Amino acid sequence: MSQTVGNAAPDGATAPDLTVVPGGACLGAEIRGVDLRRIDDRDFAAIHRAWLDHLVLLFRDQRLSDDELIAFSRRLGELDWAPVQETGRRFVEGHPELYVVSNVVENGIPIGSLGAGEAAWHTDMSYLADPPKASMLYAIEVPPSGGDTGFASMYAAYDALPDRLKQRIGGLRVKHDGTYNSGGYLRQGVTATDDPRTSPGAVHPLVCTHPDTGRRMLYLGRRRNAYLAGLELAESEALLDQLWEFVARAEFAWEHVWRVGDLVLWDNRCTMHRRDPFDASARRIMHRTQIKGSAAPA
Ligand code: SIN
Repeated sequence: MSQTVGNAAPDGATAPDLTVVPGGACLGAEIRGVDLRRIDDRDFAAIHRAWLDHLVLLFRDQRLSDDELIAFSRRLGELDWAPVQETGRRFVEGHPELYVVSNVVENGIPIGSLGAGEAAWHTDMSYLADPPKASMLYAIEVPPSGGDTGFASMYAAYDALPDRLKQRIGGLRVKHDGTYNSGGYLRQGVTATDDPRTSPGAVHPLVCTHPDTGRRMLYLGRRRNAYLAGLELAESEALLDQLWEFVARAEFAWEHVWRVGDLVLWDNRCTMHRRDPFDASARRIMHRTQIKGSAAPA
């Protein structure tokens, strides 16, 4: 059921109402009737509430400059600087907060990261001690087909786990690998390795509590080079395979088909996302921002 927040413009005229329209899956809602260049505190409070409730929010038909994307992102908190891209480029000139996700090559140099291939399920930058709490992706150019992005609720995945499995994983901690990004590319300055026990990364509890909602969630991060601390490698691999097979169920996911001007904001603490491949000769350009987390996952 959709919810509407009435909204009086400063000049007394009636601004379009901000409406939250859930997509019918266990996560994801569209926010209608809002121009992200002009939101007041009441709009923002409604957006923030909807974000905690629905985990992933879609805003269609936005027309944001880089500065406006950054200004809206800052309403959620201090921004992280973008990670170094696969090419060694750090960020968009003059905008250290912007990360470019793109397959476009200009003058022989990729302008962004992740190419046109599949991006595997992951939580952004969970290989850090304090991963970002939120990410936003803004669509500037999209291919005619493919490149859709799926999101999964890690609350729903945890809630649905069989009790025996919940008990088994209760006290475990998992290594989130920092060797490869979700497109399978080696991160800048890191030595390639496929040994999960020694690869670089952060170790976080496998079951965490969301700091704002108090809900329990699975915190898996990414599969490649994951390792359950203290277990024999074979046991770790078998248990991780079991968990990943479980979370890949369609019932935990919502898929977004992009249009130019879409902005998607997700809660990076309780979701994972993945991307379909697309035709490498088509162009896809997305600008991403990330909001710093306030605490390590716990
Ligand atoms: C990402 O994994 O952050 C990018 C997802 C996408 O390209 O849709």
